[in-house]
Order: sequence, then structure tokens, then C-alpha cells
Amino acid sequence: MKLFVFAVLPIALYAILNALYTTWLPTNYRFDKQVLHTLVKETLQEHLDEKNATEIMVDLGARLKTRYPDIVNDLNFKDWVFNNAGGAMGTMFILHSSISEYLIFFGTAVGTEGHCGVHFADDYFYILKGEQRAALPGSMEAEVYVPGDCNHYKRGAVKQYGMAGESWALELAQGWIPSMLFFGFMDTLTSTLDFHTFYLTAYFTAKDMIKNLLRGKF
Ligand SMILES: *[C@@H]1O[C@H](CO)[C@@H](O)[C@H](O)[C@H]1NC(C)=O
Repeated sequence: MKLFVFAVLPIALYAILNALYTTWLPTNYRFDKQVLHTLVKETLQEHLDEKNATEIMVDLGARLKTRYPDIVNDLNFKDWVFNNAGGAMGTMFILHSSISEYLIFFGTAVGTEGHCGVHFADDYFYILKGEQRAALPGSMEAEVYVPGDCNHYKRGAVKQYGMAGESWALELAQGWIPSMLFFGFMDTLTSTLDFHTFYLTAYFTAKDMIKNLLRGKF
């Protein structure tokens, strides 16, 4: 019985989730990574002079809302929450969260660096302002991503990453989103003990997941 619970069950569960990852799960995806990249580039084209992060996000937020009216939240600047994960700290606004996808604005005014996490999802990081650097363990030179670039973290990829101060991005994740939440919350539970942020993050995430689920968006 113990062997079943601690070994067989997790392996069987993983095998099922893994098989669904390339078959059934993608049929639930609504966001198109190419469409998002186009919207990001179109937005940046309009802000070549001033490069004001607030205005870029307001503009892009409106374009996302127009393209995906039923599944994108209206951007505001009061429902942002800090996110501590993998030793890095940033701040985010949840544009969408469901079981198979999330879309957020993520960044840092101060700058940060840490572990990207090991995720059961593919992650697309579209730089809006500033710079992101990433590297594999054997890389002696960093990959450098600047506005308009998309950094694709493939499922399971492990990298160190850093963002300069006043760097902002649109981030799309597609995969088993609930599995990512452990990574997203662990630093709060073991280090920051910022339970108010924990509460707000859980609240915004769950509220949107349930809202989408009730509308049939898995
Ligand atoms: C960026 O735009 C916002 C909103 O229009 C404004 O409040 C802010 O002062 C601007 N920042 C800079 C550095 O110009």
C-alpha cells in the first residue's frame, strides 16, 4: 500500500499528465504565441521615443483585451503583487489564469536574479522594456533578451536568469499551471513569510481560474 501511494501513484500520475501534455492539453490553449509576439512588436513600435513602461503596458493591455475580450482582465495598477520564487523577486499583474495557461505582466523596478524554476509548462517571455539575461549551467556567456525579443523557456529547461532594474515583460505560460504554483509560493512559505502577498496572489489566481473554468476555459 505504501509503495503504491509513494511510488506507483506519482509515476502513473506523471505518465498521464505527460501523455496529455502533447495531446489533449494544447486543445485548451486560447492564446497564440505568434499573435502575442505581433501585438508586442506593434505596441513597441508606437513607443519608440519615450519608452515609458506604464504607457507600454496600458497600450498592450488594451490590445490584448481587444484580441481576447472574454479571457483577459483589464489592467490596473492597484492589483499588482510581489512574486518571490527561486530566489528572484519581481512584481506581477495577472491578465489571465486558468488550468492550462496564464498571462501576466512581470518585471522589476529594482532588478533581480535567480533560478527560473523547473516547470511542467512552456513559457514565453516577451521583453517590453529593459533586459533579461539567462544562462545554462555550462554557458560562459549569457543569452541577452531586449525589447521585442521572446525568450522561450522550454518545458523542464533550467536556467539562471536576471533582469536589470526597470525591466518589464509579458509572460505566457502554457502547460500544467497548478504544478507551477508550488514553485511560485515556496519562497513565501520558507523565506519572506509575506502572507498578505500570499493571500492576494492565491486570491487573484484562484478567482480567475474558477471564473474561466465556469465559462468552460480549462
Ligand atoms: C510614464 O507614464 C506615466 C503615465 O502616463 C506617468 O505617470 C509617468 O510619470 C511616466 N514616467 C516617466 C518617467 O515619464
